[in-house]
Amino acid sequence: MNEHDSEKIAWILENMGYLPVDSDEEADIILFNTCAIRQSAEDKVYGKVGSLKPMKNANPNKIIAIGGCMMNMDESRDKILKSHGHVDIIFGTQNLFKLPELIRGLSSNNKRIVDVKAEYSVENDKINAIYSSPYKALVNIMYGCNNFCTYCVVPYTRGREISRDPKQIISEIEKLVDKGTKEVMLLGQNVNSYGKSLCNNYNFVSLLKEINNIKGLKRIRFMTSHPKDISDELIESWPQLDKLCHSLHLPLQSGSNKVLKEMNRHYTQEKYINIVNKIKATVPDIALTTDLIVGFPGESEEDFEKTIETIKKVEYDSSYTFLYSPRSNTPAAERDDQIPHRVKQERFEKLLVELYPIALKKNTNEIGKIREVLVEGIDKIGENLVGRTLHGKLVNFPGDKDIIGSYVNVKIVGANTFALEGRLME
Ligand code: 5AD
Ligand code: SF4
Repeated sequence: MNEHDSEKIAWILENMGYLPVDSDEEADIILFNTCAIRQSAEDKVYGKVGSLKPMKNANPNKIIAIGGCMMNMDESRDKILKSHGHVDIIFGTQNLFKLPELIRGLSSNNKRIVDVKAEYSVENDKINAIYSSPYKALVNIMYGCNNFCTYCVVPYTRGREISRDPKQIISEIEKLVDKGTKEVMLLGQNVNSYGKSLCNNYNFVSLLKEINNIKGLKRIRFMTSHPKDISDELIESWPQLDKLCHSLHLPLQSGSNKVLKEMNRHYTQEKYINIVNKIKATVPDIALTTDLIVGFPGESEEDFEKTIETIKKVEYDSSYTFLYSPRSNTPAAERDDQIPHRVKQERFEKLLVELYPIALKKNTNEIGKIREVLVEGIDKIGENLVGRTLHGKLVNFPGDKDIIGSYVNVKIVGANTFALEGRLME
């Protein structure tokens, strides 16, 4: 979500005549799009913004702006306002469209501007984006979140859930496909509740069916899917939606029913496993990925063992694992049974010991198979081509860079915990 907002911010700035440069020194404007999901993300911002002070003092015309989720949190915004006097513009997640006005406003009266509207404006839908890939695009289908998981800031920083008009979404994807996009990632905090704010029977499956019919589009992915709202209709429709990728990101967070209840997740371990079994029965080669939090307040060793037990039953292809990070004004942060950092760290390490061998086993199962891959580019050391399979797995393989942007068949010849190695088929 944040990544796509940054692509939109880049478009706004280029439209105003700004061009990207390689260093802070050369920049006329330095803009931070911040994340507030965990304290570690916030700390990076304070450090980086603070380090720009001497540069701003030496060149007062350089504009420093901060936007994103952190600026929609009172405490973090106040911290920037109090200790970082060199920041010129503070904007929120819901009013990106106002950025040109804020930048121009600053040039005319040279006073710090703070504009952090809390609810989404449809004006934002008119913003285009500079996509980081010509072949794949992120597409918002909804904004905000109504779930109020007790550990999470998102409902406070991104406001109430609102679904975009399906006509707008389809037209955006058609335009992208005309320009060469082959794969879309549909974005929402909870895509399974798409359509609820539209007041008719149009739901996420209705949208997927329409997108599946777009000529020239090859693959559809989506994230994130909340287990409490995933429908049998979605699972049963999967085999007919031939462009829908065989991967599902289904955040578990915890395997303990007590913790899940206290997190306000509205499902149990049994219900979660039941969904997983249904999806595995309908799409047998589905690749499952998840988010896990360790050290939620009051999490006992038995609770943690339930997470391990669930991991073993589900067998995730890959996972994002987090140490619980208290977020101001969320119910979980107020609790007095916080878990010591040392215990969180121990559980985190134990979790990886369980997750990695499963991920390796899943990837090793791919060896010998021929997989269609969208060639996305070259790896960091400039040696191999990189791409992803229908299952979202990363594949590295030797080949000519002329084939970047096309779908090719690759034979999987090697695997590690995080990626596959392949050979291009003739
Ligand atoms: N602490 C740790 N992890 C968190 N997440 C959200 N809030 C927190 C928090 N306070 C994780 C959840 C979510 C992912 C995007 O970030 O696992 O699914
Ligand atoms: Fe946060 Fe829960 Fe909403 Fe996900 S569903 S964004 S974890 S409140």
